[in-house]
Amino acid sequence: MTTLTPMESELADRARGALQNAHAPHSGLRVGAAVLDEGDRVHVGCNVESDSYGLTLCAERAAIAAMVVAGGKRVKALTVVCDGDMLPWPCGACRQVLSEFADDCPVVVERLTGEAGRATLAQLAPPAFRFALEDGG
Ligand code: THU
Repeated sequence: MTTLTPMESELADRARGALQNAHAPHSGLRVGAAVLDEGDRVHVGCNVESDSYGLTLCAERAAIAAMVVAGGKRVKALTVVCDGDMLPWPCGACRQVLSEFADDCPVVVERLTGEAGRATLAQLAPPAFRFALEDGG
């Protein structure tokens, strides 16, 4: 059984809140995500589907975008919640983007039933594509 820390429970609560606003007319799968930034602020996102299916935005990348808008720089933790019958492990695109905003961090996934799983970003995205930026970021 995966036991959440108090902070991870808080992130899951915030992700569940974001899930309520998911725009998922095509898949019917509602996803919410919450990230904790370097200043311990929480930012949330939900999936936003497009009639042009490939333009769909995942909840994780929406949460990271919200963090960037708010001035956050780094992700310390990510929690993803979905209302489907599977655990919402982040897709490859989200793993790539997350790897650009986190050194390594816990990733918790949860269903609305409370079933949960955990991994580290390093497990999910072993050495990812990166430009060697001068500022390291
Ligand atoms: N989805 C996410 O929000 N995050 C993921 O990591 C994978 C999939 C969303 C996109 C789409 O709206 C729905 O789940 C079905 O793929």
